[in-house]
Amino acid sequence: MSNAHDETVAVQGSPVLTRERIVPFLAALFEREGGSEYLGEPVTMAEHMLQAACNAQRQGADDAVVAAALVHDVGHFTGALGRFSMTDTMDRRHEVSGAEVLERFFPPLVVACVREHVAAKRYLCATDPDYFSRLSPASVHSLNLQGGPMNAAEVDAFAAHPHLDAIVTVRRCDDDAKVAGAPTPAFADYAPLLQRIVDANAGPDQA
Ligand SMILES: [Fe+2]
Repeated sequence: MSNAHDETVAVQGSPVLTRERIVPFLAALFEREGGSEYLGEPVTMAEHMLQAACNAQRQGADDAVVAAALVHDVGHFTGALGRFSMTDTMDRRHEVSGAEVLERFFPPLVVACVREHVAAKRYLCATDPDYFSRLSPASVHSLNLQGGPMNAAEVDAFAAHPHLDAIVTVRRCDDDAKVAGAPTPAFADYAPLLQRIVDANAGPDQA
């Protein structure tokens, strides 16, 4: 039985991932899947997420926001996460797949930033006149699959989200994380930060 299969089973049934295993599991995802193309962008998936974390750090964001930026797209690793359905597109589901894996271990702010990062694009397209013009062609394409800009009622509801500022920060770090060849720290450099957040959040039943 391969490790990949083990981890798929673990995520689908969630009996194996623990407070000690979630960060190594994420490291293994970066290692195994991170070299894959990021949907038409000039960076790999791992480069993209590391750049997003680096962008958050550079602007002095809290550790939880840095962590959220780092893991915001883990749901794109749908094969490893076992969530892929032939009736889904990656762009429609990856934010949910990622949040479902993370929510047992990470605090609500981190999970919200992951779960809402697609909605945040739709929100910013509706509320920031300059935002749409800065999106990459691939992001514009996926925007259409994701429902396009929010309508007024959707904007009002989203603006009331308790973690709105963090969600928007991660989204902007995400959008700016598509620079070919930009140097970043490695995943391993962020692992202690992730583990601190998990340890501070996880209850004793997840030890
Ligand atoms: Fe992203």
